[in-house]
Amino acid sequence: MAEKKIIAVVGATGAQGGGLVRAILNDPTGGFAARAITRDITSDKAKELAKLGAEVVAADVKDVESLKRAFKGAYAVYCVTFFWADFSPENEKTQATNMARAAKEAGVQHAIWSTFEDTRKWIPLSDNRMPTLMGKYKVAHFDAKSEANHVFTDLGVPTTFLLTSFYWENLIYFGAGPQKGPDGKLALTYPMGDKKLPGIASEDIGKCAYGIFKKGREFIGKTVGIAGEHLTGTQMAVALTKALGREVRYNDVPADVYRSFGFPGAEDMGNMFQFKRDFEHVYTGARSVEFSRSLNPALQTFDSWLQNNSSRIPLG
Ligand SMILES: NC(=O)c1ccc[n+]([C@@H]2O[C@H](COP(=O)([O-])OP(=O)(O)OC[C@H]3O[C@@H](n4cnc5c(N)ncnc54)[C@H](OP(=O)(O)O)[C@@H]3O)[C@@H](O)[C@H]2O)c1
Repeated sequence: MAEKKIIAVVGATGAQGGGLVRAILNDPTGGFAARAITRDITSDKAKELAKLGAEVVAADVKDVESLKRAFKGAYAVYCVTFFWADFSPENEKTQATNMARAAKEAGVQHAIWSTFEDTRKWIPLSDNRMPTLMGKYKVAHFDAKSEANHVFTDLGVPTTFLLTSFYWENLIYFGAGPQKGPDGKLALTYPMGDKKLPGIASEDIGKCAYGIFKKGREFIGKTVGIAGEHLTGTQMAVALTKALGREVRYNDVPADVYRSFGFPGAEDMGNMFQFKRDFEHVYTGARSVEFSRSLNPALQTFDSWLQNNSSRIPLG
């Protein structure tokens, strides 16, 4: 049997990378092997991946030499950065550069870079509909990722640029689930108006990425977007009401109000939602559900995700 092609996965113990590692391991005859990259090979999550059959290696995206070692001999790499770890777009750019340089040195045949749109293409810094953040961004965690795209291209790394969507797991872990209002009723509060928010089960990102790798060179040099479903806040509230057996309403708020909520990253999130709302067709148009399902036939809908996950949503 031919030797398996190694896919080295950054963020393997997390949402995107974890889904990819499991997708590779769940397809033992697919011709690929999973190399899971973590900062701590002794963690429970790392050991769990090893038990499933992944090769687990240590690297830190802040340390280019460790990435070069971790990418060595790989056919492909999955690259993702961790904005919410320190809210620093500058660090994201440095870390993406480190990954691109390591991918170049390893001579990989395919990289997927998990990126986003540069929102300043649609809302230049001079546009006062939303505040400029840190002096140079509108949506920092989008714009910085996009700024890093050229590093992969300039170095000649064969790259697919992957546009992901809002994880439905944000309803569980990110405080984006239904909250009890002063009237005691549950409400989902987003500044999305009546516009559609592309969402996805985070596990499906890795499955779609695996679908891209399996297509060989087809998506190299291309930007592809994925989503499980495009839903309005009202549609999400109706689905939640059904799944939870408790009424959930959609509470549309102005983006300014959302930005003022004060949690870490609220301004960036407020701008992000506003971008998705005000440029609904651009944003949804870049994330075809049908295309995502062609990469990953098991793609979940919001209803199917809720069937397995609604009991994990904290109802604050
Ligand atoms: N939340 C959303 O709705 C959403 C949607 C689309 C895209 N995103 C983007 O997704 C990105 C994060 O990806 P994710 O959600 O898959 O991450 P995650 O689940 O938060 O974490 C992924 C893993 O990354 C590893 N990690 C963290 N810092 C690292 C470092 N310095 N070097 C190497 N590994 C490191 C950690 O593993 P170890 O501890 O094992 O090292 C962690 O388990 C963000 O940039 C965000 O903008 C988020």
